[in-house]
Amino acid sequence: VNVGQRFARLATDAVVRRPALWRLFRGSIRRQFDKLAPAWDAIRSGGHLESLKAALDAVPGTPRRVLDAGTGTGTAAREIAARWPDAEVVGIDMAERMVEEARRLNPSELEGRVRFERADASSLPFQDGSFDLVTLANMIPFFDEIDRVLAPGGHVVFAWSVGAETPIYVASERLREELQRRGFDQFQELEARPGTAFLARKTERG
Ligand SMILES: C[S@@+](CC[C@H](N)C(=O)[O-])C[C@H]1O[C@@H](n2cnc3c(N)ncnc32)[C@H](O)[C@@H]1O
Repeated sequence: VNVGQRFARLATDAVVRRPALWRLFRGSIRRQFDKLAPAWDAIRSGGHLESLKAALDAVPGTPRRVLDAGTGTGTAAREIAARWPDAEVVGIDMAERMVEEARRLNPSELEGRVRFERADASSLPFQDGSFDLVTLANMIPFFDEIDRVLAPGGHVVFAWSVGAETPIYVASERLREELQRRGFDQFQELEARPGTAFLARKTERG
């Protein structure tokens, strides 16, 4: 585990406890990922999306508007678009160079349906209830924003490539607690070794 990974875990733990602390971490996390962007896909392990896929398999229905927050080079966004041919997918990342890579890797057949924007997940540039599904793969969660941009009855997926060993990781108990407090239900824990994932639904009441 290197210094950057330790720092990422420290930032995750702090921000999940106190989201207001994000402003202290934002600059260094962004610089870290801007630097990693050109090599990101090369340093990922082959099966790093397996747990995300297992969670997508468990999503009921056919989501049409999907947000992948902290999309990095956009692998999850493209996977989602391939799986649901009618879905419109937005991938956001605050690291400009990640967004550049994601756009570069987007095949022309997906151009109309998959787009990438630079944005901060702590303050999303989308209206309330804009999405049926929000995905986060190896990404620090901002629960209030996830809740706000999801439509009632929509789902959220958290995926961790190497489970609790993932540098950016939040334990299922903590996810459940934060989501329950905001009225989410139908929690499911999933596993696709070495990865894990967590699925939840925002209640229909809105
Ligand atoms: C560990 S990488 C994961 C990338 C991709 N989801 C994957 O699994 O390959 C985390 C990504 O989230 C981005 N990120 C971290 N905090 C963010 C925030 N508050 N808003 C937007 N992007 C963020 C980073 O720039 C980085 O690209």
